[in-house]
Amino acid sequence: MLGNFTYCNPTKLYFGEKALENLKDEMGKYGENIMFVYGGGSIKKNGLYDKVMAILNECNKNVTELSGVMPNPTAEKLYEGARLARENDIDLILAVGGGSVCDYSKAVSVSAYCEENPWEKYFLRMEDVSNKTIPVGCILTMVGTGSEMNGGSVITNHEQKLKIGHVFGEEVFPKFSILNPVLTYTLPKYQMVAGFFDIMNHITEQYFSGEDDNTSDYIMEGLMKSLIKSSRAAVKNPEDYEARSNIMWIATWALNTLVAKGKSTDWEVHMIGQAVGAYTDATHGMTLAAVALPYYRYILPYGIQKFKRFAINVWNVNTDGKSDEEIAKEGLSQMEDWMREIGLVMNISELGATDEMIEGIANATFLLDGGYKTLTREEVIKILKESM
Ligand code: NZQ
Ligand code: ZN
Repeated sequence: MLGNFTYCNPTKLYFGEKALENLKDEMGKYGENIMFVYGGGSIKKNGLYDKVMAILNECNKNVTELSGVMPNPTAEKLYEGARLARENDIDLILAVGGGSVCDYSKAVSVSAYCEENPWEKYFLRMEDVSNKTIPVGCILTMVGTGSEMNGGSVITNHEQKLKIGHVFGEEVFPKFSILNPVLTYTLPKYQMVAGFFDIMNHITEQYFSGEDDNTSDYIMEGLMKSLIKSSRAAVKNPEDYEARSNIMWIATWALNTLVAKGKSTDWEVHMIGQAVGAYTDATHGMTLAAVALPYYRYILPYGIQKFKRFAINVWNVNTDGKSDEEIAKEGLSQMEDWMREIGLVMNISELGATDEMIEGIANATFLLDGGYKTLTREEVIKILKESM
């Protein structure tokens, strides 16, 4: 049964090879002070920087550049961006990059006019926004997070060894996002497949929760089937437009709030993965890949019917003569085969986690109660040891 909900997604999307052509029109909607935010330089190498700058110049914008946004953006970097945005009276923050650049831009949006320490207010205390925000627009270059059409923003504080996401409301969603699959072709394979697993896990986090007959589950099964097929094609040929465009669209729908409406969700893999990330600074999707199977195998007995449904509807497991448990386990084995095939990192030691870190990672893991089993700290330690 669907619960009560409100659904509104205010992000306007421009999709396809010609999507960047719409930037000029969008620029007409905002004042002259644009903050152009990007990462470590991939957009300079592949020519996107020059294309965007040419459009901004053509539109007579005053451009304030903020570069060097790192994967897993930090609180320190956030303070720098917030200061710069306020000092330059920014009218629009234009995020050109992956989830990190987009998340970071949203964090700057809510922090520029925040009179308190934004890390403490928004990430430690999870408070709502009560100050002026700056609109954000996005040109996406890496697929996975869904940040292009949601209010999520994840910030890492290395000093406190915490990586925390805040899901902000509609006012912080990007006002527009430009999604051109071709812009993702230059991604290194490691980042590309990490993004694929991030998408898969966003879906399973929302799928493995609840027992009811829910339309969202059928949508998610379709998204997962399309992802599995297209990811195999993209690994073989990263310039397969059909595959890359399907995946870009799946990523957006996997985490733009739609499939979570009216149903419960889990998100414990992300909680463990983020804690691993706080200690290792590893690539987000890989932290999820390294802990997901030990977690799902551990909770399988508590949600056996859904794991069985996953095996049959997503992985086409043949059920003849098999018990529910055997079918459910076979679904996870098929997922494991797919993960190995596309080249994911399957353990946290390869990501830099050590035995000495396990206790700290467990302490940094938030324990949520939306899944089939609410974990204890000891169970998190057990899962982390399995993930080594
Ligand atoms: O910095 P540059 O030089 O641009 O390089 C980036 C970065 O090194 C590179 N890259 C991106 N596009 C490229 C490219 N290289 C070549 N060609 C391109 N077209 O890829 C590297 C990773 O980029 P990043 O933005 O960090 O990756 P991703 O999109 O996976 O974002 C990860 C961040 O998003 C958060 C994660 O926790 C992490 O901090 N998440 C945000 C969510 C949300 N907003 O809802 C949900 C997710 O679960 C996730 O937690
Ligand atoms: Zn994720």
